[in-house]
This record gives sequence, structure tokens and C-alpha cells, in this order.
Amino acid sequence: MATNTTINSLILLLIFTLPILNCSCSLSDELKPLRREVYGNGRIFDITHRYTAGAAGLGDFLWLVQSMKNGSLYNFSLLQLEVHSGTHVDAPGHMIDRYFDAGFDVDTLDLEVLNGPALLVDVPRDNNITAEVMESLHIPKGVNRVLFRTSNTDRKLMFKEEFDSSYVGFMRDGARWLVENTDIKLVGIDYLSAAAFDDLVPSHLVFHESREIILVEGLKLDDVSAGIYSVHCLPLRLSGSEGSPIRCILIK
Ligand SMILES: *[C@@H]1O[C@H](CO)[C@@H](O)[C@H](O)[C@H]1NC(C)=O
Ligand SMILES: *[C@@H]1O[C@H](CO)[C@@H](O)[C@H](O)[C@H]1NC(C)=O
Ligand SMILES: *[C@@H]1O[C@H](CO)[C@@H](O)[C@H](O)[C@H]1NC(C)=O
Repeated sequence: MATNTTINSLILLLIFTLPILNCSCSLSDELKPLRREVYGNGRIFDITHRYTAGAAGLGDFLWLVQSMKNGSLYNFSLLQLEVHSGTHVDAPGHMIDRYFDAGFDVDTLDLEVLNGPALLVDVPRDNNITAEVMESLHIPKGVNRVLFRTSNTDRKLMFKEEFDSSYVGFMRDGARWLVENTDIKLVGIDYLSAAAFDDLVPSHLVFHESREIILVEGLKLDDVSAGIYSVHCLPLRLSGSEGSPIRCILIK
């Protein structure tokens, strides 16, 4: 009986470790972690920006408050981060105070909107996202999730240290056109704000008014082809917060 159990455990151990040993991780002599943008032989794209000190206005946000080098039993870090930094999501309370007071925080965002079929489109590079630009994209009715790739990606704005207010985003009429003429509920964009700087508040208000549209900002859309994917975005469950860092991936 005992022997059988041992053999069974061994078989189970083998079943579970074989695929791991078979993976492309470098488990070899060199202790060097693998950092990837693409997983599963080109099937899964990480469209989240890495949080790196200095990038996209992050500054220092991570401190090793206890370290093994200084005699602690473990390494233990402290994180201090603006909730709207890097790849992140906005909750309706971000720019509408009565929604904030009523508790529409990131914990209330609909995971069904944040996960499902999505369209990645290229926006014409010579303009902000106006009503005219929205119309020209011909996004069919029934499409609920759209990631808008703009010149922000070409200009690598998310990799710059300084905030750049010349980024491309939605003008108020573009946001209004989207609300009135499409079924889009998830709006993804490749810089820190879905709203163009000149219409920062008005465009956000148009999007947040109904509390049905979720804005995911600061996406990393480099090196992914335009087209249809399955998007998966998961914010942290920060009670009382109008924003959260978010991990987003696209699956082919
Ligand atoms: C622990 O902290 C030290 C710095 O004291 C660092 O060199 C080392 O990489 C850390 N180890 C881990 C596992 O993060
Ligand atoms: C270790 O302690 C020294 C002296 O207090 C300090 O200067 C250093 O920053 C600490 N290093 C880490 C990794 O905590
Ligand atoms: C988009 O709008 C911003 C101001 O919000 C402006 O600085 C930028 O030049 C505009 N970009 C284009 C391509 O028109």
C-alpha cells in the first residue's frame, strides 16, 4: 500500500514536471530569468508595459526595505505607485465625483467587458481621434472591444521618461461618436490617457458618463498585427480606487 502510494506520487510528479522541464525556460547552468513579450509560440502577446524605474514617468516606485544582503531572512520590497501609471484602467469615479462617492471603484469594473474578443486597429497617423476619424475606421456594430493603435506607439512615448502632452487620443467629438454609433465598451489606447490632452476632461466625461465603457490606457501595442484577438485584462481589486495597474494579454 505504502509502496503503491509512493509509486503513484512519483508518476504524478513526473506528469506534472515533464511539461515544465520541456519548456523554453533557461534552467541551465546560468541563473538568468527569461523576459518575454510573446508566449506559446507566438500565440500570446503581453500588451502590458513592464514597470521599470524611470519609464513613462514612473520614477522610483519600488524599494527593498529588508534585504538578505543586510542580514534579513528574506528580501522584502515596498511598492508605491500612482494607480494611473503604466498600463492601467480607469474606473467611472476617475473624473465624475458623484460616481467616486457612490463607490464605482475598480473593483466594480465588469470582467466580462475586460475579457473577450477584441479588435486591434490602426488609427490614421495624422490626427487625433475625432468623430471623422472614428467614422473612417468603419468598426462594425457588435464589436465590443477595440484597441486603438496610434502614432503614440510609433513615437515610443511610453518608453520616454517625461510625460508628453502631444500624444494622440480621443477628442470630445470622437468619444461622443464612439458612444453614439458603436457598441464598443472596452477602449484600449497606447498612451497614458484615452483622451487627447486638449480634451482631457471632456472626453473622459463622455466615456465615463454611462459607466458602461471601460478605458484601458498605456497599452503596449508594438509588434502585434492589427486584427482580431481575445483580450484578457485583469485589474487589481483596489477598493475605493478610481484606477489600477492592469495586466493585459492578447491571445490569437
Ligand atoms: C535580495 O536582495 C539583494 C540585495 O540585498 C539582491 O542583490 C538580491 O538579488 C535579492 N534577491 C532576490 C531573490 O530578489
Ligand atoms: C543595507 O544597509 C545599509 C546600511 O544601513 C544601507 O546603506 C543599504 O542601502 C542597505 N541595502 C539594502 C539593499 O537594503
Ligand atoms: C493631438 O492633440 C494634441 C493635443 O491634445 C496635439 O499636441 C497633437 O499635436 C495632436 N496630434 C495630431 C497628430 O494632430
